[in-house]
Amino acid sequence: MKSINRIKIIPTCLTALALLIVTSKTFAQTLSIPVETEHNALVLQVDKDKNLKMVYYGTKLSSPSEYQYIQNMYKQPDDSGVLDDAYTPSGSTNLAEPAITVTHADGNKSLNLAYVSHQVTKIDDDVSLLTVTLKDPAYDFEVKLFYKTYYKEDVTEQWSVIKHQEKGIVTLNKFASANLNLKGTGFWLKQYHGNWAKEMQPEEAKLTHGIKTIDTKLGTRANLYEPSMFMVSIDKPATEDEGKVLFGAMEWSGNFRVDLELDPANNLRLIAGMNDAASEYHLKPSEEFTTPAFLYTFSDHGKGDASRKIQRWARKYKIVDGEGSRLTLLNNWESTYFDFNEAKLAQLLKDTKKLGVDLFLLDDGWFGNKYPRNGDNAGLGDWQENKQKLPNGISWLVKEAQANGVKFGIWIEPEMVNPASELYTKHPDWVIKQPERPEKYFRNQLVLDLSNPKVQDFVYGIVDGLFTKNPDLAYIKWDCNAVIFNAYSAYLKKDQSHLYIDYVRGLYNVLERVRAKYPKVPLMLCSGGGGRVDYGALKYFTEYWPSDNTEPLERIFIQWEYSYFFPAMTSSNHVTDWGKQPIKFRIDVAMMGKLGFDIVVSKLNEQELAYCHEALKNYDALKDVIWHGDQYRLQSPWDNDAASIMYVNEDRSKAVVFNYLVNNRYGTGTKTPIRLKGLDPKKKYQVKEINLYPGTNSSLDNALTFTGDFLMNIGVNPDVNANRSSVVLQINEINSKLFN
Ligand code: GLA
Repeated sequence: MKSINRIKIIPTCLTALALLIVTSKTFAQTLSIPVETEHNALVLQVDKDKNLKMVYYGTKLSSPSEYQYIQNMYKQPDDSGVLDDAYTPSGSTNLAEPAITVTHADGNKSLNLAYVSHQVTKIDDDVSLLTVTLKDPAYDFEVKLFYKTYYKEDVTEQWSVIKHQEKGIVTLNKFASANLNLKGTGFWLKQYHGNWAKEMQPEEAKLTHGIKTIDTKLGTRANLYEPSMFMVSIDKPATEDEGKVLFGAMEWSGNFRVDLELDPANNLRLIAGMNDAASEYHLKPSEEFTTPAFLYTFSDHGKGDASRKIQRWARKYKIVDGEGSRLTLLNNWESTYFDFNEAKLAQLLKDTKKLGVDLFLLDDGWFGNKYPRNGDNAGLGDWQENKQKLPNGISWLVKEAQANGVKFGIWIEPEMVNPASELYTKHPDWVIKQPERPEKYFRNQLVLDLSNPKVQDFVYGIVDGLFTKNPDLAYIKWDCNAVIFNAYSAYLKKDQSHLYIDYVRGLYNVLERVRAKYPKVPLMLCSGGGGRVDYGALKYFTEYWPSDNTEPLERIFIQWEYSYFFPAMTSSNHVTDWGKQPIKFRIDVAMMGKLGFDIVVSKLNEQELAYCHEALKNYDALKDVIWHGDQYRLQSPWDNDAASIMYVNEDRSKAVVFNYLVNNRYGTGTKTPIRLKGLDPKKKYQVKEINLYPGTNSSLDNALTFTGDFLMNIGVNPDVNANRSSVVLQINEINSKLFN
């Protein structure tokens, strides 16, 4: 074994040492840089030639001094010595798929990156930032790799910053955020595909040699066909509670690309970042190019544990007001579509109160005069109230809502324009379209050019104007229904290949400004359904719209899959009239996230309305557990007649279990008990069925109490069957304060 001068970087040791800086002169041969979180470790290693390798990511070792020996245990053929690079350059000796490709100012396309130094900054007790500086020995070109770790959550955000001091412009041809290397005896990828109303359809398969790419080139509404979230099981397919699994996702709302390469030595190389397709970027001397973060976590206890890590991290660090509250609401999209006026809305405001939710959300169709928004073919861009529908404007509606004791929210789609609009006529140069080609529309609309600061001001002005004129406006649904066809920006002139990237940066600029002025106001992230659900955008939002498909059976599957990556409180689940299921089933399904409604309240009969009230009362008592508790998937809808999902609060004194029949064939139901999870084995609990439809009784015996041990080892049978197609169980620790 070689003699090694190893520097330990362990967050727990850093309480006293806020900043640790090491340079290449301080070590002789190899240097290990372990980045540890509570359960995991990522180990970087600098070899004697100053190449930075990533030699390990997985379960933390009990003796950190042994990280240095990991790499020598692998005797894999690697003639070119290129396989473990922590950020693979291209064009010189490294012949693997690169993380970065550049064209230097002199036209040369080769790059080598040598380790220069690293430093660790402890941001607080939980969060640390490792920065590694790499430089090309032949060119004045630098890459800094950033690893931001969240110790308790076991989450890492990784990105890079690229800079040079060459004499002229350098072109970045490829610019990944992260390049990970995983070791294992086999790798299984779970990925997602979809389309409108069919979001988050999962597929899982063993990776074979070569490169598997998950990407999008849609520009906006980027996740329509494929989101960047994925899981990789290591050694064998992980289950909910067992096995090693990495979860990854790009924090980026535009074109992304994730390459998963099973290399000749049977390691998995993962390269994730913005998509380089048609996107080479010209970098001036001293200018910094910062990539978005790639987010990842690892668990050796299965997919459930990994998802709880991401959910906890998101609530604590990423989404807006993740540890706060959310508003229940009534939306009018499916009850009126574009066809409404003041009288109708006044009635809906009364219905909002009658239903008992917090807010009324006015959807599409309230704007445009010369080109009224009476359908999806006109008006986008003209954000003035339609005088015929709303002669007294939004402010009247906000006041009317207040008079009814509810709040008011509104839909916008500020990044878009219909050719039939005043905006399009006035500012054709603000629109993304090829000057010499016919226009191509997506939902009859085009995308505004957010790389242009004037367009950014315009979009910001829409939001700011609404809040300035209506200080009591309490909620905005921000939609984005089109993709970018014919990518061309009149503003960017010669830098056309910057458009996809600068668009998203422009969008984030606008959202930064919105949040600087309105830090906490609830914003729903919508993109014709879930076309833009990613943490790059969710950083600015309180919740997202998973899908326009609100058929409750479909929603169980869609919400189930989103829940692996996003906390329940961010999932806007609306009860609508899609599907034939009874109102109880529809509400019970919507309750597994952030509950809302989009129904015609006046059409509900007395019993249905009574059920709504009962469910809302229960939701109010349970929402803290659903929004802030730990989520456990008990029985998957994909493999069982009944799906079952559970939420447990922090001190394990309260829980709720949602059970849904997902198979309609004769005689289906829960024949065997469902084992609960996350409870305290020693505590005693009462299991009580709630959300009972008026006039029905539970078939469960509420008088019985059980230990957590019993509930987790034997389980409880919710008695789901065709007559009881959804069953909600409330689990209360005996002797603690009960829900009701
Ligand atoms: C998109 C959204 C819907 C609705 C319509 C309005 O499709 O996903 O919820 O807001 O736009 O046009």
